[in-house]
Amino acid sequence: MGNARMIALYITISLIAFALSKIIISVLLYKRWKRKQIVYEQGLTGVKMVIFKSPVLQSLTSEEFLKKTLKLSSKDIIGSGGCGTVYRLMINDSTAFAVKRLNRGNADRGFERELEAMGDIKHRNILTLHGYFTAPHYNLLIYELMPNGSLYNFLHGELKAERILDWPARSKIALGAARGISYLHHDCIPHIIHRDIKSSNILLDQNMEAQVSDFGIATLMEPDKTHVSTAVAGTFGYLAPEYFDTGRATTKGDVYSFGVVLLELLTGKKPMDEAFLEEGTKLVTWVKAVIEDKKEEHVADSNMRCCPIDEINNVFSIALMCLETEPANRPTMAEVVKMLEQTRSKKVVIDS
Ligand SMILES: Nc1ncnc2c1ncn2[C@@H]1O[C@H](COP(=O)(O)OP(=O)(O)O)[C@@H](O)[C@H]1O
Ligand SMILES: [Mg+2]
Repeated sequence: MGNARMIALYITISLIAFALSKIIISVLLYKRWKRKQIVYEQGLTGVKMVIFKSPVLQSLTSEEFLKKTLKLSSKDIIGSGGCGTVYRLMINDSTAFAVKRLNRGNADRGFERELEAMGDIKHRNILTLHGYFTAPHYNLLIYELMPNGSLYNFLHGELKAERILDWPARSKIALGAARGISYLHHDCIPHIIHRDIKSSNILLDQNMEAQVSDFGIATLMEPDKTHVSTAVAGTFGYLAPEYFDTGRATTKGDVYSFGVVLLELLTGKKPMDEAFLEEGTKLVTWVKAVIEDKKEEHVADSNMRCCPIDEINNVFSIALMCLETEPANRPTMAEVVKMLEQTRSKKVVIDS
C-alpha cells in the first residue's frame, strides 16, 4: 500500500514537472516571438523589414525607419568592405544606426533564422544587430552605429594621424575583443565561429570599448550551405595556415586571426604591409624572427608613447601562442582572456 502511494506521488511530481517545463518553454518562445517586430512586408515585391524590439528602438515609428532606410544614398556611406557597403542612417539628432548592405538578394528562411540568432546575442563586446531588411537584389543589416569607427582606422587609416592610441587604450581593446570572441566560442549555443577576425571588424564605442562585428557574415554570404568546407572566407593576412589546406573554419582559426590583431596593436603595422610584401615576408613571420632575437622593444609601435615593457612582452608572448602553426598548441579564447586579464592586473598591482 505504502509502495503504491509512493509510486502515485512520483507520477504526480513527474507530471507537474513536465507541465511546468512545457509552460516555461512556451513563455520563452512567446517572449522571443514578441521581440520580433515585422515593420513592413510586401509579399509581391519580396520586400520585408524586421526590427528586433529593444529599448533603443521603442520610441521610433516603423514608417519613419522604413522611409529613412529607403532614402539612403552614397552621401551616407561610412565604409565599404568585402561583402558590401556600410551607411549611416540618421533617424533624428540623437539616434543613428549603421546599415550594412549585402550584395546578395533573395533571403531564404535559413538566412532569416541566422539573422534572428545573431539578433539574440547580447554582450558588451559584440556589436548589436537591431534588425534587417530583405529585397530581391540586396539585403540590409541594421546595426548599432559605433561613433569611433574601427580599430583598423585608428591603427592604419585616416584616424591614425588624428588620435594616437596609447598602450592602456590598446590593451583595453585587446581584452574587450578577446572577451567578445570568447563569448561567441564558449557561451553561445550553438557555438559560433567568427571566421573573419581582423582589425576592421573590431569597432569602438564612445568609451573606446571594443565591439566585435560581422560574425556570421561569412556564413550568410555562403551560396551553398550544404558544404561544411567552403572557398576561402576571411581576409588574407589573418587566415590560419591550416585553413589553406582544409578550407574548414574552426575556433582555433579565429584564435590565430586574433593573434594577428594583437600583433597589429603591438606593432602598429598592417598584417600585409606593403613593406613586408616587397621583402617577401609578412607581419607574423617578421615578428617571430625579431622575438627569437629577443628584440621585442624594437618592433613595438613607437606611437604608443610610454610602453610598460613587461606588459608588452607578455602580450607579445600571448600573440605568439595564438599564432602557433599547430592549431592544437594554440590556447582557447577563454584562456587568452584569462592571460590578458592577468597581464593587466599585474600592471595594476605594480602601479598601485
Ligand atoms: N556599426 C558600425 N559603426 C561604425 N562604423 C562601421 C560599422 N560597421 C562598419 N563600419 C565601418 O565601415 C567599414 C566597412 O565595413 P565592412 O563592410 O564590414 O568591411 P570591412 O570589415 O572589410 O572593413 C569598416 O571598416 C568600419 O570602418
Ligand atoms: Mg566588417
